[in-house]
Amino acid sequence: WLKIGFLASHGGSNMQAIVDACRNGKLYGEAKAVISNNSGSGAIERARKHGIPHYHLSSATHSDPESLDRAIYHALTDNGVTLIVLAGYMKKLGPLTLRHYKGRILNIHPSLLPKYGGHGMFGSKVHEAVLANRETVTGATIHLADEEYDTGAIVNQREVAVLPDDTAETLAARVLQCEHELFVETLVKISEGQIVL
Ligand code: GAR
Repeated sequence: WLKIGFLASHGGSNMQAIVDACRNGKLYGEAKAVISNNSGSGAIERARKHGIPHYHLSSATHSDPESLDRAIYHALTDNGVTLIVLAGYMKKLGPLTLRHYKGRILNIHPSLLPKYGGHGMFGSKVHEAVLANRETVTGATIHLADEEYDTGAIVNQREVAVLPDDTAETLAARVLQCEHELFVETLVKISEGQIVL
């Protein structure tokens, strides 16, 4: 039984796909907490709608990085979270949270890492770079998060074809759809012990 804590900065569609899978019995687990650095994020709105404990925690609420790390850590541990899912979270986690949840923090990235990862590579920037380089294949990657961006061990990956008439928007939408499926599938495998973190 996965006890998932989400961190999300924006729309939260990956989080929603996972929450739906929990609720319809496809995934053996539940959402225990949602944390966002953005008080107006879709992720917070979705959490409110589903009655999941949710928290706005950011440099705006905690100017000192150490106290922010502590607040995030407590929001997760107080709610019994055993697995962290970074679902479109654009910030780094602090050392306390990283240490406590080491090997139990999953991030999703909209490319085939190690390609198109690292600092500054997020959201539409990734897809623009893929198109600029005339790639024919891109995809999504789920990896363990560590103190750097996009460098942790790869857990699962799936390809998405780049079509000749793709724009960054059409490509992003197709990759996002793939992310939802990949995330749910990967978590199902983790819950069934087919993937061991
Ligand atoms: C997703 O495409 C995710 O891969 C990306 O942000 C989007 C969030 O969508 N994450 C990154 O770029 C992380 N570096 P969502 O809020 O609808 O799940």
